[in-house]
Amino acid sequence: MLFPGARDNPLRLNANCPLLNTNRLLARVGVLASDMSFVRLTDTANLPAPNEAKEIACGDKMICVANVGGQFLAVDNVCVHLGGPLGEGVVDKGKIVCPWHGWAYDLKTGELAPGRPGVKPYALKIENGDVLIET
Ligand code: FES
Repeated sequence: MLFPGARDNPLRLNANCPLLNTNRLLARVGVLASDMSFVRLTDTANLPAPNEAKEIACGDKMICVANVGGQFLAVDNVCVHLGGPLGEGVVDKGKIVCPWHGWAYDLKTGELAPGRPGVKPYALKIENGDVLIET
């Protein structure tokens, strides 16, 4: 519903305006919306060895990237208990174990236990030797 007088207001919101529709705006400038949410994290040579994890900087944020049997998974690096660096932890049965007090997070969901929130998980994808992370 428009507010009173909006119908005659030349500045009223226009649903067809490309400036109000991100996908249309991106299409006009040649950027695919699906690629817009990934940024380069590192290159594949910098990924951790099987069943190891490491910290990788993404802008001003650190990400914990783990190698679980050849599958690369990423979560926030900061443990929600007292801020331990998860990328310095141990990979154990699909979980990253915090090096400070042993809290363990599922690397696919970031959860401490099913339904118990933990750290944020991030999607990764590899393209042409680059590792991209969803923002
Ligand atoms: S800081 Fe991670 S378990 Fe305590």
